[in-house]
Amino acid sequence: MNLKGRNFLKLKDFTPEEILYFIDLSSEFKQKKKQGIAHDELKGKNIALIFEKTSTRTRCSFEVAAHDLGMHVTYLDPSGSQIGKKESIRDTARVLGRMYDGIEYRGFGQEIVEELAKYAGIPVWNGLTNEFHPTQMIADMMTIKERFGYLKGLKFVYMGDARYNMGNSLMVTCAKLGMDFVACTNKTYFPNSELVDYCKEVAKDTGASITLTEDVKEGTKDADIIYTDVWVSMGEPDTVWATRIQGLMPYQVNKKVMENAKETAIFMHCLPAFHDLETVIGKEIYDKFDLTEMEVTDEVFESSQSVVFQEAENRMHSIKAIMYATLK
Ligand code: CP
Ligand code: NVA
Repeated sequence: MNLKGRNFLKLKDFTPEEILYFIDLSSEFKQKKKQGIAHDELKGKNIALIFEKTSTRTRCSFEVAAHDLGMHVTYLDPSGSQIGKKESIRDTARVLGRMYDGIEYRGFGQEIVEELAKYAGIPVWNGLTNEFHPTQMIADMMTIKERFGYLKGLKFVYMGDARYNMGNSLMVTCAKLGMDFVACTNKTYFPNSELVDYCKEVAKDTGASITLTEDVKEGTKDADIIYTDVWVSMGEPDTVWATRIQGLMPYQVNKKVMENAKETAIFMHCLPAFHDLETVIGKEIYDKFDLTEMEVTDEVFESSQSVVFQEAENRMHSIKAIMYATLK
């Protein structure tokens, strides 16, 4: 499998075999790390990390993975560069492309990261846009494979805002990997029909299925994986909280949902999650709406079915694999 020089912008750009390769390579790197086997095979390379939105997991994963691979990192925070304000993405791409070996970009529209990739001349990795979060997909599928041993045929249920980066990316990934994807949510939050049609086409070849339903009982019945994400994403205005809470509360992941899934089902979340009052926003929502937990109850989040921290760890191993495969 030769992926050298490729961008990593969205999983629509990759074949099922290529996606499975990233997953397996991630597991290899995880093993190497656990066994203390050095893998600084990209010594001498430099990468730039552009974050126009905040991050814990993605930034730390890129930094630790880069250091393990022997690379140097420059971090550009949401206010620390000229990008967008004084300099176009196209010009930024042409400048960074001459200094670095790879660029990670987290920001707003998908068209921005696509533009960056078009002009950089070096691999660009999408660290999250409004539309897609592809590096998260490799970690998520790796985590599922670690638990079940396989992916094809598993029933994957996404609850919450399925129109945004996580819902979109998971639907595409499940379609590519032959899984049974269900968006179980209020129809206002169904993924857009163009992407649904694309995934249904893919599904014809892979044996996947795509279902959109508002029925929680039917949607989550015998699920292998129950997945959710925050109801309001980075960059969205605070004013949408009230309508989101009203529309999505019936799709909260709670004990009843988990009991309706298979006994062996796992709970997943890309994190960060609102499952208690230990955050500033969590407290604000409590003051305004009297809610102590949102997209997932604390009980499910802390339960033995929850694999969220294994999933978070896998971000680092998978980002390492993505960088390695596209640079080595
Ligand atoms: N899941 C994820 O991307 O987390 P961060 O926003 O902390 O990077
Ligand atoms: N949908 C979330 C994902 C965070 C990893 C957001 O965009 O804020």
